[in-house]
Amino acid sequence: MGYASIKTSLPGNRSRELLERRQQAVPKGVSFGAPLFAQSAEGALIQDVDGNTFIDFVGAIGTINVGHCHPKVKQALHEQIDQFIHTGFNIMMYEAYIELAERLARIAPGNHDKKVLFQNSGAEAVENAVKIARKYTKRQGIVSFSKGFHGRTLLTMTMTSKVKPYKYEFGPFAPEIYKAPYPYHFRRPQGLTIDQYEEYMVEEFRNFLITEVAPETIAAVVMEPVQGEGGFIIPGKRFVQGVYEACKEYGILFIADEIQTGFARTGRYFAIDHFDVVPDIITVSKSMGAGVPISGVIGRKEMMDQSDPGELGGTYSGSPLGCRAALAVLDIIEEEQLNEKAQKIGFRVIEKFEQLYDKYECIGDIRGLGAMCAMEIVEDRLTKTPSKKLTNEIIQEANKRGLLLLSAGVYGNVIRLLMPIIITDEQLDEGLKILEQSIETVEQRRHIFTN
Ligand SMILES: Cc1ncc(COP(=O)(O)O)c(C=O)c1O
Repeated sequence: MGYASIKTSLPGNRSRELLERRQQAVPKGVSFGAPLFAQSAEGALIQDVDGNTFIDFVGAIGTINVGHCHPKVKQALHEQIDQFIHTGFNIMMYEAYIELAERLARIAPGNHDKKVLFQNSGAEAVENAVKIARKYTKRQGIVSFSKGFHGRTLLTMTMTSKVKPYKYEFGPFAPEIYKAPYPYHFRRPQGLTIDQYEEYMVEEFRNFLITEVAPETIAAVVMEPVQGEGGFIIPGKRFVQGVYEACKEYGILFIADEIQTGFARTGRYFAIDHFDVVPDIITVSKSMGAGVPISGVIGRKEMMDQSDPGELGGTYSGSPLGCRAALAVLDIIEEEQLNEKAQKIGFRVIEKFEQLYDKYECIGDIRGLGAMCAMEIVEDRLTKTPSKKLTNEIIQEANKRGLLLLSAGVYGNVIRLLMPIIITDEQLDEGLKILEQSIETVEQRRHIFTN
């Protein structure tokens, strides 16, 4: 018997009722992937309020690497609730915050001394990383990258690339933010090999420091080692190292935004580990808390110590529940060897993607780093015209069969996989099979309409 099980039309009656209430009470600006409401979740499965079971290839957008409701996370949370829920770390401190800081400092790349600050959300972590970089360098400029995503606050929205829906009519934006080009191998100019293209992109970055902003005014470059919302775009080592070298040359801090890529997603604790670069600062969140809001900034000691008491922090920042969940997550990654598991998932997914690529013309590109895998959907391979329409149709077909999927990319035409890394082989295979059936159905329909 399969794991996915759809017993009602979607959405079912109970979800429909809740959707109606949601439409009255919640602004439409808060989007939803599927018109469904959750009842329970465990491992890589979610059950909705109508009794339908879905295999989860979204993991709350990369938040559930250790799986839904992992017993160790639940136990840690129960224990913490029985002790105390919140004292405010800036009022009465607690050990879990310190222990988490110590452990993250140990696993983050580089042998230098580090300190760690905790917040609640990814955007807050990026905001704080920028504050720390500015305070330390006494410079104001911040460089982020085209197609990047860093959050929805004023500063992080400014640093983000995709105009609609993230920025449209939300200006004026924060000053002193500059956007540098980021490689996109699939859409590179024709005639360039990947090596030539990477070299060209490093030169472009150097040119950017001449044409757009003077390097001595830049506090930090903030880079996603693999772009998440941007469409799971993986740069080459040459580009990441080239940018890093330029940073070192001009005293610019290198900040790796690991909010989507961290905590075993790519087969390492941090994706930047693949590029042999030691960032000055790393931002983390999402899977760090297994669903409990927590984020962090890991940085060189001397940088983190520039701010005076009260200049950093927040009411709920680094809450006891968040810290306890994150400590459990670190234990699980180690004990269940999730880095190795993510690599195995990646092999399995890419193997399947290669078969699908050979069969279906709408798959323009397949790519992945560890368990951070994606396929890019196009109208045809010759023009590479992005097809958001086909992408959405595939996702809807998958939902109907009991698989949760999510798109990404500036053109909305990338299907990204962020399944819990604890997913079983059988669940993974079943999910990939549903993905195949969904593509097959959409391709057949397309051919009926075009022939
Ligand atoms: C790379 C990256 N940075 C920052 C953020 C913002 O995180 P949050 O939504 O928790 O503010 C995200 C969220 O998707 C992200 O992927």
